[in-house]
Amino acid sequence: MSAQTVVSLGGVSKEFGKGGVVALQDVDLEIGPGEFVSLIGPSGCGKSTLLRIVGDLIQPSTGNVVVNGKSAHQARVDRDYGIVFQDAVLFDWRTVARNIGLPLELAGWNREKRRGRVQEMLELVELTGFESHHPWQLSGGMQQRVSIARALSFDPPLLLMDEPFGALDEMTRERLNLELLRIWQASGSTVVFVTHSISEAVFLSTRVVVMSPRPGRITGIVDVDLPQPRSFRTREEPRFAELVRDVRRALRRGGGFEAEEDDHEEERLIVAEEGL
Ligand SMILES: Nc1ncnc2c1ncn2[C@@H]1O[C@H](COP(=O)(O)OP(=O)(O)OP(=O)(O)O)[C@@H](O)[C@H]1O
Ligand SMILES: [Mg+2]
Repeated sequence: MSAQTVVSLGGVSKEFGKGGVVALQDVDLEIGPGEFVSLIGPSGCGKSTLLRIVGDLIQPSTGNVVVNGKSAHQARVDRDYGIVFQDAVLFDWRTVARNIGLPLELAGWNREKRRGRVQEMLELVELTGFESHHPWQLSGGMQQRVSIARALSFDPPLLLMDEPFGALDEMTRERLNLELLRIWQASGSTVVFVTHSISEAVFLSTRVVVMSPRPGRITGIVDVDLPQPRSFRTREEPRFAELVRDVRRALRRGGGFEAEEDDHEEERLIVAEEGL
């Protein structure tokens, strides 16, 4: 492990209960500072489990996890993480503003400073005017935007995001993709991002990590050499299409797609990806 490593996983496996489901098997991965790494793989392959292990929310059965040169537990104590879960996890008794401001409260920010930052975050996720609402008064997509705002509010050095945009409409998703990239570049943070979407993974990432069906293993890594900063034009570049194809092939090699070959396979995949 080099001194420059933000996340280092060595031989990580996870079995839920003795003789139970093996969710992850022998995962090795090193993530450097400022990387944007996406994890992609079929449903149930262990992406959320891997992210939770990095975030010290569950313990691996075997293997080592080092974050910023210390244990994942210490990294959590030091507030090195911002986490966005697959489903928004909000406190129902707190308003939107007080949910977003929670990490700032915990970090000891005074009320005035918190208020300014929360307003900025509300604007970012287009929820200005909803600060006094409670989570149960919001739609699922709005709740997810609150949890994104909360995770970004304190500029965490390591952002763990589990399909954060899955519940959002396509337009909002593309806008937040661009915002996330802007924030990532400005803050210099490291991001580990789980997604089902091949094109989202390629668009956002510096590296795409491809996982196999359960038990989850890393079966391929695609370096994304698209220039930064990315823009809405990035998706139209020929290199973008090539990289999408590379990730798709890596998924297929790992067994992540049904391997049956047919004449319409390419079209089917494009239709599935574009949501047509
Ligand atoms: N707390 C748990 N107890 C028992 N089994 C679990 C637990 N959490 C996850 N699993 C199992 O581990 C496997 C991987 O689950 P995980 O949630 O990591 O998948 P995923 O890749 O995130 O899937 P999805 O894309 O559907 O979110 C699944 O078979 C799941 O049933
Ligand atoms: Mg998941």
